[in-house]
Amino acid sequence: MAPIQPVSTSSTTTDGPKHNSRGLRIWHWSNAGLVLFQLMTILFLFVIVKVKTLAPEFSQVLAEKGVNLPAAELRGLTRIVSHRIWDWHIWAGIAISCLLAFRVFVSFRQRGSQRTAAKIAVLKARASRGDAAATKGLWARYAYRAFYVILAVMVLTGLVLVFEDYLEPIKEVAETIHEYTMYVVVAFVVLHIFGVFRAEVTEEPGLVSSMINGGEPAEGV
Ligand code: HEM
Ligand code: HEM
Repeated sequence: MAPIQPVSTSSTTTDGPKHNSRGLRIWHWSNAGLVLFQLMTILFLFVIVKVKTLAPEFSQVLAEKGVNLPAAELRGLTRIVSHRIWDWHIWAGIAISCLLAFRVFVSFRQRGSQRTAAKIAVLKARASRGDAAATKGLWARYAYRAFYVILAVMVLTGLVLVFEDYLEPIKEVAETIHEYTMYVVVAFVVLHIFGVFRAEVTEEPGLVSSMINGGEPAEGV
């Protein structure tokens, strides 16, 4: 009987670092989860629970039962709900801030072609040979760079809001920037997920799994 050949356990056993470093993957999925969580807190506060309208609605229901409690007095109670959600937003925000610092650390730890500059150089070379997928990949890379700037703005303005008692003069401007930057975050997330799905089923199969298992060694790209 012919000996059974050992089955290769992985396609990434060749030499060289994986396409996406472990640090980048840990950062990516933790950050993605937390950013989506932040958006959920806003969705709950302003759309699903609509905390601001709770007091008048409670007041109305109580009035039907013969209890006369004006909305202004009920606000203290409904604020308990919003404070609970904001507490989660703040702790998730602090985690995002620590993760951003971790991402900076990761960028120094990445080796060779795991580095963003090297990935961009590879894409530029492919694009110059007329590879249309590489041109799109290049645009995606520039979008990631812009997103890091957006994330830094979110973190800085968020931290100002966390320590607003000590930063009273810039509190309002930080709040406005924080609020409007959220729309850019939403736009990025929607386009990014759409773009990644599209690339996965068209020109770049294996793109999503490379953000999970690291992908082929970077040198092989
Ligand atoms: C990246 C995703 C994030 C989104 C989409 C987001 C969104 C928002 C929005 C829409 C507000 C309401 C602003 C207003 O009332 O005008 C807010 C408030 C706030 N955010 Fe964020 N934020 C994010 C990240 C962060 C981070 C990283 C921090 C902290 C480091 C943070 C801390 C805060 C604080 C302290 C407030 C004020 C809470 C209060 O009024 O009690 N956020 N955020
Ligand atoms: C809030 C959600 C998300 C955020 C903020 C986010 C952010 C990012 C950023 C900044 C990068 C660039 C990393 C780098 O190389 O420096 C990236 C890459 C990537 N993300 Fe996301 N991501 C999110 C959700 C997702 C989801 C849900 C998927 C999968 C379905 C995904 C799949 C990928 C893939 C495959 C790459 C690598 C693409 C490439 O090499 O061009 N992301 N993401």
